[in-house]
Amino acid sequence: MKGLILSGGTGSRLRPFTYTNAKQLIPVANKPVLFRVIESIRDAGISDIGIVIGGTGEQIREAVGRGGRWGVNITYIEQDAPLGLAHAVKISRDFLGDDRFVMFLGDNVIEGGISPLIAQFADSDWNSQIVLTRIKDPRQYGVAELGENGRIVRLVEKPKQPPSDLALVGIYMFDHHIFEAVNAITPSWRGELEITDAIQWLVNSDYAVHPYIHRGWWIDTGKREDMLEANDLVLEEIEYIVDGYVDRDSQMGRRVAVQRGAEIINSVVRGPAIIGENSRIINSYIGPFTSIGDNVVVENSEIEHSMVLENSEIRDIEARIQDSLIGRNVKITRSPIKPKALKLALGDNSQVGIL
Ligand code: G1P
Repeated sequence: MKGLILSGGTGSRLRPFTYTNAKQLIPVANKPVLFRVIESIRDAGISDIGIVIGGTGEQIREAVGRGGRWGVNITYIEQDAPLGLAHAVKISRDFLGDDRFVMFLGDNVIEGGISPLIAQFADSDWNSQIVLTRIKDPRQYGVAELGENGRIVRLVEKPKQPPSDLALVGIYMFDHHIFEAVNAITPSWRGELEITDAIQWLVNSDYAVHPYIHRGWWIDTGKREDMLEANDLVLEEIEYIVDGYVDRDSQMGRRVAVQRGAEIINSVVRGPAIIGENSRIINSYIGPFTSIGDNVVVENSEIEHSMVLENSEIRDIEARIQDSLIGRNVKITRSPIKPKALKLALGDNSQVGIL
């Protein structure tokens, strides 16, 4: 079996972060979502993985490389324009050949391993397996309607009136019959070749498409709030480990990970939280559900339920920072120079909430 990860897309809903970063590379609990996806596929025993890349392809190649770090072989497949998930399958034909494969969206995070599910498909004679999950408002996803026997009756992409609460999670398994489907369908109203339509084509053509209902959490990290929520959920699973240095004046919660070279000085870190490599937390409070990336400095400040990416600095901030997503190389400091005023240098599409 092979793996196919879709990692194109512009990430427009995650600006300004996606001006400088592919959305799949934004870390959740200090690990890029894309790396988590690669690990899930690897854990299912798959070592041949194709990654479909678009405009942010160079960054993805640079971050992932040839896959040696995970013991897998990565092949890059270039998609000239974001013409849909089914289009991505179409252009991956040479890489996939006639093998069965699992396709994963590179910005999806899902609870627990789905390796057994993939392994089960590898040994089955089903033509496809799709992963569904119940959500309150599935209007922005593909939605499945199941018949009384649990079989798929209908799949609709982003329906105004969803026929059920079963959304299509961005994980799909196929055999080579999917190529017939992607060649048969036509672009949707949004100008894309929809994988949902291709699966409907399989169902209509009497191919065996097996639905699996996932019961854990699932997040499509396309939006800012989703990013923080994904961070919360992944941190929920974190365990106490100190690979860095914690001085005797600091207090550490039970679920805190302090990564290599990090230093906690005279501070309180209440988990679940992660402190990245070589970061320094000095005279500060790090509250629950906070991910501090690598090489970050937090000094004389308080922060909770937030994500801070690499190389940023937060110093001498009196108000507690909360529910915030702070990018790379950001400096938040207190200015001693009068007048007492906020001095901001914010990129396009930034959002700041001031008391
Ligand atoms: C895509 C699929 C949709 C699926 C979703 C999962 O949507 O078209 O069926 O439910 O991924 O994340 P898109 O991200 O292209 O809007």
